[in-house]
Amino acid sequence: MKTTKTIALTGDRPTGKLHLGHYVGSIKNRIELQKTSDEAYYMVADVQALTDNSDNPGKVNENVIEVILDNLACGVDPKKTTFFIQSQIPEIAEMTVYFLNLVTLARLKRNPTVKSEMKQKNFGEEVPAGFLSYPVSQAADMLFLNSNIIPVGEDQLPVIEQANELVRKFNSIYGEYFTELKPLLSETRRLVGIDGQAKASKSLNNAIFLSDENDVIAKKVMSMYTDPNHIKVEDPGKVEGNVVFAYLDIFDENKAEVEELKKQYRKGGLGDVVVKKRLIQVLQELLTPIRERRQELEKDKKAIMKIVQKGTEKVQKQATKNMKEMKKVMKIDYFG
Ligand code: TRP
Repeated sequence: MKTTKTIALTGDRPTGKLHLGHYVGSIKNRIELQKTSDEAYYMVADVQALTDNSDNPGKVNENVIEVILDNLACGVDPKKTTFFIQSQIPEIAEMTVYFLNLVTLARLKRNPTVKSEMKQKNFGEEVPAGFLSYPVSQAADMLFLNSNIIPVGEDQLPVIEQANELVRKFNSIYGEYFTELKPLLSETRRLVGIDGQAKASKSLNNAIFLSDENDVIAKKVMSMYTDPNHIKVEDPGKVEGNVVFAYLDIFDENKAEVEELKKQYRKGGLGDVVVKKRLIQVLQELLTPIRERRQELEKDKKAIMKIVQKGTEKVQKQATKNMKEMKKVMKIDYFG
């Protein structure tokens, strides 16, 4: 199944609306890859979302359209990127079953991404088996279309590494078949939360959503963690660990002015409110067109789901073909 084409694939779990962390971590690269790769796919990872939401099917169902809308509003273009839904491609689940024989329980328990999520969710030994093994299912997502470039945030690197172990294991048994996956990291590997925690995330309630209204953006920026020792305007302030400056570094295109502000802030005489107001403006300018496009698209969800259905049907054809080929390689084809 080896190819020389560049085939990009990414996806999101439909468990909530997407935020700025998603935007800088992977959506921007998805848009870039539409231009530079031969094929590009966007998968709604509803099967993966169910691995820790089995008791909440409504939540997953409702958020399928939300993550699609967020991506479309940002500029992921269905004319260039094929959108599809994971659960509608049974071959992914089928491939997962075969891959599960090539990984041990001990290895699954060692995956750092899974480990930290398990801790956050307080799973312990009561972790759903599907959750513990989702990197195997994700390996199937990434391999069943023969994709080779995966635009992701830094937290996904261990999942890609584990998939590449499966590639090597598979190839060592059946001969060179799969190609190793290359992660494409963004410049901003991780976006800090507005509260100063290492990562912006929905579950930590410290993220600015792509669909947030201007007043919500303003409120969130005004609440951002700065320098707790910068009390009076004349006090010298710290820029390192200051969320407002971290965001300006990422989102403000006028780098020279940001450097000037940092200098002033360090010296003393620049108040938090001035810097926050600047960030509010920068973020509102970035998010207003995205939010407006989203509101436009929202008016005809049926039309969007039609596009996703078409994409899913296209992917299904490819999946049927690839699974047939893989079964042949695995010596589990019996009827020719
Ligand atoms: N694990 C990803 C996340 O939590 C979602 C995902 C599932 C994914 N399958 C993928 C990302 C394949 C890239 C490629 O956001």
